[in-house]
Amino acid sequence: MCGIFGYVTSKDEVLGPILIEAARRLTYRGYDSVGAATISGSRIDLRKDVGKVDEVAAKYNFAEMRGSRGIAQLRWATFGEPSQVNAQPHLDSDGDLVGAHNGNVVNNAELREQFIAEGLTVRSQNDGETCVHAVERYLNRGYEFIDAIRLAYGDLEGDYAFVIGRIDDDKLYAFKKGSGMVVGIGEGFTCVSSDLPSILPLTRQVIRPQDGEIVTLWADRVEIRSVKDGKVINRQPETVTESMDAVQKGGYAHFMLKEIHEQAQAARELLHVLNGNREVDGLVAKMKKARQLYFIGCGTSYHAASAGAVYFAQLAGRAVIPILAPQFIAQYAPAVNHDDVGLFVSQSGETKDVLNALEAAEARGMACFGLANVVGSTLTKATSFCLPLCCGYEISVPATKTFTNQVITFLYLAYKMAGKDVRALDGIPDLIEKTLEMTAPQVEALATEINDWNDLYCLGYGVTYPIALEGALKLKEVTYAHCEGMLSTEFKHGPLSAVSKGFPILFVAAPNDVPLIISGINEVKVRGARTIVIAEEDARLRANADEVILLPKSDPQIVSLLGVLPLQLLSYHMAVLRGYDPDFPRNLSKTLTVD
Ligand code: AGP
Repeated sequence: MCGIFGYVTSKDEVLGPILIEAARRLTYRGYDSVGAATISGSRIDLRKDVGKVDEVAAKYNFAEMRGSRGIAQLRWATFGEPSQVNAQPHLDSDGDLVGAHNGNVVNNAELREQFIAEGLTVRSQNDGETCVHAVERYLNRGYEFIDAIRLAYGDLEGDYAFVIGRIDDDKLYAFKKGSGMVVGIGEGFTCVSSDLPSILPLTRQVIRPQDGEIVTLWADRVEIRSVKDGKVINRQPETVTESMDAVQKGGYAHFMLKEIHEQAQAARELLHVLNGNREVDGLVAKMKKARQLYFIGCGTSYHAASAGAVYFAQLAGRAVIPILAPQFIAQYAPAVNHDDVGLFVSQSGETKDVLNALEAAEARGMACFGLANVVGSTLTKATSFCLPLCCGYEISVPATKTFTNQVITFLYLAYKMAGKDVRALDGIPDLIEKTLEMTAPQVEALATEINDWNDLYCLGYGVTYPIALEGALKLKEVTYAHCEGMLSTEFKHGPLSAVSKGFPILFVAAPNDVPLIISGINEVKVRGARTIVIAEEDARLRANADEVILLPKSDPQIVSLLGVLPLQLLSYHMAVLRGYDPDFPRNLSKTLTVD
């Protein structure tokens, strides 16, 4: 979802390669256009277009761009279609300022009208340009740069991070509202970015600005001021110790495959952290006392929340409402109060739909907790307590390891709710490894066999219902095929009419639900479907399904969770067979910071 990068050095030099590399490291966020600008004395060199980083950089020869300051931006279209004029960075009316943003300025249309009425030159529909003019209008009125930014900040509504520079200066300025932003301090340079991956190869000394703060970047120092009163805020840099391996493919063809194979290790780390986290018991105590419990998320995170709700019911006899974040606002927020507890689930911690739901819940006094992967994200800061998912970076747009760790966290919490011994979960990481080993060759072969089908179904029941939903989401995300996840018992209520000879239907079966799944298998099999069931060894399933993808033996809750792994692998292989990049599916973005 858009990404910005700014770089300040002390002398004029070739900045193109630094900007290209930073842009490459932001690509995982999702984008459709690429741009770069350098400022050298009184000249701004701006190059941008629709396309991939390497294509656009080569076409416009970004590599030769020189200056003492540079800005790179990846845009994922919201305001204005993907086009060269809407691509970022943007100039002000006279071409003295250049800036770029990520996020969403919600009063973009109103502000554009004001700027046009004030005689400013508005060239695009894009809200990044609006940020530039928001500063320009106050500079035109004679304000100093910092004061112009402070006033612009008040005008720009929404969630965004913005970087701006001007000619005949030696600085860049950055500020944010809602979105993430990180500042890096290196030897002879400073930089600013939407997030860490583009900064870590350059420096490990970082500062994380907060909302309502303006950062001024010189080549040798940064200064933070408060938007409110313009006063300097003292903040020492922190040293980031995370390994850069996490943002490289580590020998795998794609991040998605790497991340699928990282699941055992991620689960190990998660369990270790959960076991040592004293706040977990406090959270469980609050959930026990809650009048009503809500698990809230979107997409994959919602599927994990749904699995969690089944675990809570099955293990702890506790009813939970799993709900998609925007629907929570419409359906439950008006009725919640301080006796209720909400657990907000998100990989990125920046999903706008989830943050909106959080805001609605907090407005009603509900006790709000989080479950997020990106440490330092808005969700981790906005909730009273947020459990970390401990997955490291998940670069691939399709979530894999974060889903698994979300589900494990819910299982862990369900065990705690039930007073069960969580040491029973210690075997999960090895079971994940075993599952991937056991299923990989068979799933790769299956991918080839069913790859011609553009309609598929994934069916499950109980915990395997959200697992089937998640498998279907993975398949449609990366193969672009129509794939529906459904409660197995619902298939006869309509979709059955779609079945034709060879039509592939995937079932995920927990041991307790085998008889019910067998009914589902036979309903479609007699109508010509090809039935593939993912389950642990069971003679009844072997006797009824066309094919069994075997999971290692475990308890019913864990087996259900393991069922997602072959579906992740199947999605990956089908995407590759179709010639699609599973890491960056068309039209999708990893972090959805818009409504
Ligand atoms: C998952 O593969 C998708 N990329 C998407 O559904 C995602 O889970 C959803 O956008 C929510 O994101 P979050 O977990 O970062 O909040």
